Amino acid sequence: MPSPIQILPLSWVSAEKALSWHAVMAASLKHDLPDRPPTPKQVHARLTAARPDSRRLLWLAAEPDGSVTGVAGLRLFTPRGQEHLAELELHVRPDRRRRGVGSQLLAQAVFAAQVENRRSVFTGVADAGPGDAFCAARGFLRVLTSLHLSLDLSAADDSAADAARPGYELASWTGTVPDGLADTFAAAKAAVNDMPTGEQRRDAGQVPADRGDILLVVAALHGKAVAGYTEIVIRADENRRAQQRETAVVPEHRGRGLGLWLKAAMVRRLRTDHPGIAEIETDHAEDDVHLCVVNRRLGFRPHRRSHEYRLSVRPAGSAPPDEEGLHDDS
Ligand SMILES: CC(C)(COP(=O)(O)OP(=O)(O)OC[C@H]1O[C@@H](n2cnc3c(N)ncnc32)[C@H](O)[C@@H]1OP(=O)(O)O)[C@@H](O)C(=O)NCCC(=O)NCCS
Repeated sequence: MPSPIQILPLSWVSAEKALSWHAVMAASLKHDLPDRPPTPKQVHARLTAARPDSRRLLWLAAEPDGSVTGVAGLRLFTPRGQEHLAELELHVRPDRRRRGVGSQLLAQAVFAAQVENRRSVFTGVADAGPGDAFCAARGFLRVLTSLHLSLDLSAADDSAADAARPGYELASWTGTVPDGLADTFAAAKAAVNDMPTGEQRRDAGQVPADRGDILLVVAALHGKAVAGYTEIVIRADENRRAQQRETAVVPEHRGRGLGLWLKAAMVRRLRTDHPGIAEIETDHAEDDVHLCVVNRRLGFRPHRRSHEYRLSVRPAGSAPPDEEGLHDDS
């Protein structure tokens, strides 16, 4: 028997609505990430931040008494070549699961994806959590398994930062890339942009400064060209953990140990400039052998897995806003 809930679009996120969202999300995440609950402030900032690469559609599932039992967000990517993609976030309060709330929110999100001409919706779920069974039941295909690792900075081995890399030198900056490196940094990003794997989180926050986050970059320069880079974000409201963002080496500069060199230099920079940071968190594809080796050399330890699922979406007009809108990729 479906739950008598209403799915309400959330076009303006007031502080009160953000609190409702946070309550559902925190309760939902508690099982899989007990030591990492997001703060209400972080949730509010994430839901309201304007981003240059995407926009968000949000929904709440409300019971007749107004209490919120589920939330869903769809991030619609805007850069050229990504206009067919949408990222789904979906949470149902643990005490209200298996009553169809998740399916109703998903149907609404898929309908919106159709209207927005999105062909593919992807989402991430924790290993061995209910999201796995839900995605399988609703026609998603598992496309990637990621390993989540953390590095205790007090025990990290940054000795690789001392190794000589003839022909290369290190450059560091905080926030926006310096003018003189802007073009070559953009070219390096473009050169690695089609990487199927890598230490590359989609929620990388291209505008960290807008959210009060601090973006640290260490780059390897070959002459005046960026040959590789590694990025770390220290989130606003966070004074213990730093998040790894992209680490990439331009194809013609690979095989020279630049990845380890860059990351070791970043560890050293964090130790010197941000001594309060005790840990770096990262994730990468489980089968990315190169990153596994680099991260283990630095002392990263894996602590969980997650899976990325993808759902193909039919064009608008071919299905009503119910579960018929879903079909698998086969
Ligand atoms: C995944 C989640 C959103 C499902 O919400 P829900 O309201 O329980 O989902 P539904 O009741 O609509 O379930 C639909 C179907 O999914 C499958 N399913 C959902 N949870 C399941 C579980 N724990 N075990 C086995 N099958 C499950 C079942 O086939 C279910 O149909 P049934 O109850 O008729 O057997 C919820 O468990 C959750 O918030 N999990 C944590 C966050 C997460 O993983 N989000 C997924 C992103 S897509």
